[in-house]
Amino acid sequence: MPKFMNIAHRGASSYAPENTFAAYDKALELGVNHIEIDVQLTRDDHIVVIHDDTVDRTTDGQGRVADFTLAELRTMDAGSWFSAEYADECIRTLGDTMEHYKGRLHFHIEIKQREIAGGLARRTIDMARGYGLTDSVTITSFRKEWLEEAAAYDSTLPKGWLVPMGPAATWDDSVIEQSKELGLTQICPRADITTPDLVDRIRAEGFVVRCQGLYNEELMRHVVDVGADGATVNFPDKMSEYLRMKGIGQA
Ligand code: G3P
Ligand code: CA
Repeated sequence: MPKFMNIAHRGASSYAPENTFAAYDKALELGVNHIEIDVQLTRDDHIVVIHDDTVDRTTDGQGRVADFTLAELRTMDAGSWFSAEYADECIRTLGDTMEHYKGRLHFHIEIKQREIAGGLARRTIDMARGYGLTDSVTITSFRKEWLEEAAAYDSTLPKGWLVPMGPAATWDDSVIEQSKELGLTQICPRADITTPDLVDRIRAEGFVVRCQGLYNEELMRHVVDVGADGATVNFPDKMSEYLRMKGIGQA
């Protein structure tokens, strides 16, 4: 029976504030053991888990993540924007996250930082090694430069390229050849451009097809129906239900 990677996107982010322990706990509570998280560097060079360049949308602070120290970021409320019941949630380091969830979750870590600096991909891999998580970390990015850094440093961790960059961009066939040259294991196409033919072509070249950009339930059903191997989704419970209905197990 085929198995599908049902990955809670920024945690189960439809139900709890994204990229917080509450969202990862929710994923576990829903029976999901894969999460996707976004990493960036602080001003004082710590790796923190946050999606946007700024703290404005997901905390009670304002400003660029890269302009704050870890101590400053830790004082921010990263939950109230979602709901008052999450006022105690805070920005976490990658290390804290790994320590807390190791052995319970597979971490799909997106190297999010726009500026290609600080060795963030390399240091994320060091963290995976340091926490003994090399069999439960996948490195991803939209930015080829981060994947190049990761590939140059490590040849064993699974790595996936999120494509294409930007909501209006379309599929580019050269991604397959470039991914081969880099030794990537996954190609992660946006859900709305993923067709059965594209899935077949990517898989025939030896890659796992792991989709992203499942903004609604129609796209969620679509990626399953076209035969993808997995996807990030904000509502992994609905994905579980659909997979069950289709007789597809979960990886
Ligand atoms: O699965 C990848 C997905 O997380 C990429 O989009 O913007 O949510 O980081 P974004
Ligand atoms: Ca992400």
